[in-house]
Amino acid sequence: MPAFEPVLLARIAKPNSAKLETYRADGGYGALKKALSMTPVDVTTLVKDSVLRGRGGAGFPAGLKWTFLPKDHPGPIYLCVNADESEPGTFNNRILMELDPHQLIEGIAIACYAIKSEKAYLYLRYEYGRSYRVLDAAIKECYAAGLLGKNIMGSGFNLDIVLHRGAAAYICGEETGLIESLEGKRAWPRIKPPFPAIEGLFRKPTIVNNVETLCCVTHILNRGSEWFKSIGVPPDPNNPRDMGSYGPKLYCISGHVNKPGCVELPLGVTARELIDEHAGGVWKGRKAKAVVPGGISMGFLSADELDTPLDFNGPGKAGCLGLGTAAVVVVDDQTSMVDVLYNCCRFMSHESCGQCTPCREGTAWMTKILERIRAGHGKMEDLDTLTEVAGSMGIIPGTTICGLSDGAAWPVKNAIRKFRADFEEYISSGRRSVTSAQELMAGAH
Ligand SMILES: Cc1cc2nc3c(=O)[nH]c(=O)nc-3n(C[C@H](O)[C@H](O)[C@H](O)COP(=O)(O)O)c2cc1C
Ligand code: SF4
Repeated sequence: MPAFEPVLLARIAKPNSAKLETYRADGGYGALKKALSMTPVDVTTLVKDSVLRGRGGAGFPAGLKWTFLPKDHPGPIYLCVNADESEPGTFNNRILMELDPHQLIEGIAIACYAIKSEKAYLYLRYEYGRSYRVLDAAIKECYAAGLLGKNIMGSGFNLDIVLHRGAAAYICGEETGLIESLEGKRAWPRIKPPFPAIEGLFRKPTIVNNVETLCCVTHILNRGSEWFKSIGVPPDPNNPRDMGSYGPKLYCISGHVNKPGCVELPLGVTARELIDEHAGGVWKGRKAKAVVPGGISMGFLSADELDTPLDFNGPGKAGCLGLGTAAVVVVDDQTSMVDVLYNCCRFMSHESCGQCTPCREGTAWMTKILERIRAGHGKMEDLDTLTEVAGSMGIIPGTTICGLSDGAAWPVKNAIRKFRADFEEYISSGRRSVTSAQELMAGAH
């Protein structure tokens, strides 16, 4: 099979790839010009026909989401670009922003034209200092060249982009937490409905899209929806709710591999192919014990599930929450899943915003139970307690406001069901892997 030719990463190795001059020399802003010659409805229809699914984690079709905006709204309508990228193991947005910012800005401009928005807020994770500097320079280049501001390309279309730095909290990536944060408040996710398309930023209709999603929009305008659908996986005929997993995808690979990095491939590559063919295999000649398919919120694949296709449908069939951010984290066979799960729970407990009792208490107690197990004081019943707590928290059981809680529950459910022997061995052997400070804390509960 011929090697896949990158689309989203096609320009990143070129000299001065972030500069407007080189972007334009490569045909950049031709897609925007094309969009401006169409009606906003036709641009939306083109994106809808491509079945581009959101790359931020939920996989919701972008074009369809745009159609949820109220018709003939007097405005303002906003676009929020989600560049919070806080899911552990995920760094594809950073690469796109640092190395090809104009591809993103062009996608933002096309999306804004389609949804009739004259203002986009790019919400950027605070830690991404280089992304901030590169994007700031690229946005200024666009204003100077008449690609942002008033009457873009003489079309009558106006657009301002506000680059906003977050303050480093995972919950700011949840779309309504992001909106609250942009409004200057604590990033507490809102109860939905109303969804942002109806009532979002400053209570106005708002679309929230991920960086990679918007970069795909640029190429869909350039090459069409049929081209986009020629890449990836068609719908599963046995699943009437599957709409297919089309287009190129950036997969991040990290953890216990020889060559961590970010690769662009058609949606649907398997975890095994990613590890063996793109990440140089598991390090130190070891085998994979577990693989996170798309950020830790998605749970774990076991060693015998590595042939699972990493499309929007595959990880769910293997009991994971979904494809998530397609950030693959490999755990080798010398690592205890007790330690891996403890790290996941500690992260989620720290990041829970605390609004919903099942999430605030559940994440904290799961962490404490794992601390106790790691201190050598675990009991076999702890495993059932962990499963019970995990089973009662999240949007899926209907007890919380946002999906952070489902993302906290899934690694617990998967780890205990798929790797129970690891936990039982840890408890029965009386092993300890905590520091004395952690032991003191565990003893306190
Ligand atoms: C706890 C939590 C954190 C999230 N973090 C991000 C994030 O960092 N970036 C992102 O694009 N989406 C994130 N999402 C998903 C967003 O809520 C939203 O679905 C997404 O930005 C929509 O864009 P898309 O449709 O283009 O994927 C997060 C969701 C949850 C529940
Ligand atoms: S589920 Fe957790 S993170 Fe989400 S709103 Fe509730 S407490 Fe906050």
